Amino acid sequence: VFSSRTDWDLGPTRLAACVAARRAAGLPVLDLTETNPTTCRLDVDRTEVFRALSEPANLRYDPAPMGLPEARAAVAGYYAAKGVAIGPDRICLSASTSEAYAFLFRLLADVGDEILIPRPSYPLLDFLAELNDVALTPYPLVYDGRWRIDMGGLRTAIGARARALVVINPNNPTGSFVRPGEREALGDLCRALGLALIADEVFADYAFEPGGDRVPTLAGTGDVLTFCLSGLSKVAGLPQMKLAWMAASGPEDLVREALARLEVIGDTYLSVGTPVQRALPALLADRTKVQERILARLRANRLELCAQIASSGHVVALEAEGGWSVVLRLRSAQDDEAWALRLLDRDGVLVHPGHLFDFAEPGHFVISLLPSEEIFREGIGRLLARAADG
Ligand SMILES: Cc1ncc(COP(=O)(O)O)c(C=O)c1O
Repeated sequence: VFSSRTDWDLGPTRLAACVAARRAAGLPVLDLTETNPTTCRLDVDRTEVFRALSEPANLRYDPAPMGLPEARAAVAGYYAAKGVAIGPDRICLSASTSEAYAFLFRLLADVGDEILIPRPSYPLLDFLAELNDVALTPYPLVYDGRWRIDMGGLRTAIGARARALVVINPNNPTGSFVRPGEREALGDLCRALGLALIADEVFADYAFEPGGDRVPTLAGTGDVLTFCLSGLSKVAGLPQMKLAWMAASGPEDLVREALARLEVIGDTYLSVGTPVQRALPALLADRTKVQERILARLRANRLELCAQIASSGHVVALEAEGGWSVVLRLRSAQDDEAWALRLLDRDGVLVHPGHLFDFAEPGHFVISLLPSEEIFREGIGRLLARAADG
């Protein structure tokens, strides 16, 4: 009855089952994987959100396949604030960044074509690829005190059916931005091979420090067909609003054709709600306050991590420049799933095993920097004590 593309193992992972069992037994879980900005006690005044969503004009429906003009103009304004000139006519809205990926896979690739993605990166891409009948080809990011793209590894990975190259800037979970030299090399590669560039920049506003040797955004890239993805989920800490966007740039004829085709895809679903589109100018104007609060949380938790880890001979935190996560590595290589299970079982602390993010080597863990300071402090303390215990 069912398609082979949905023939998944639907049971919970061992870790998820263990979390559920603990919660059912009334045992506490210190969740160091919490990335939901609406539940991690950010205490932001959201009066503006309520006001913007309660406009009477929201009751009127004007279907707009690419998004309502005022919403597209607000996204153009977001890029203008970064010093990037992108016209509202180059913006296409979607319900989420995940949906934007799906639109782009449908736009760019036929069944079985390949999309290049960084490794490690976040797990959702596997499902997006399966559901859209494309194959993912990982290209390596390597760590030698800081993360960089292994350009040799990338060139080797590219197969005859490659259609697009995904960069995540900054990447989840490594927190690494694209470097100026890497952008040049990626551009050369995409031009030479006729690949489109998909730049997922949902975390681009969350650099820990200003400046640095990095490309703040690939939006507006002129010489390669480029789609820059972001959305309210991370930009305004409002994942429940379901609004994201693609900003297209590149050679004029390709961009025009891409947008015309995206309009048909958008028209097929019309998936973004009217109230959130009308509210977008206000929600984006509100982002500074939210981002300051989130950045303060990220910085406070990073400081706490550095302070605690300084005296640990067993765990290192890998260098990162931005984003909501941090990668930890045990000095002694251990099976990360088994270790995470032990940490949960004995200490009630939940972390992501690195294999979820496709780390090539064992002993990596991913934790979020978003939990409240109290949970983070206590969770890290227990994690380091467990690592010291073996
Ligand atoms: C790098 C990255 N891109 C995209 C998404 C999905 O964002 P959205 O909520 O807009 O679908 C996530 C979710 O965590 C992410 O980590």
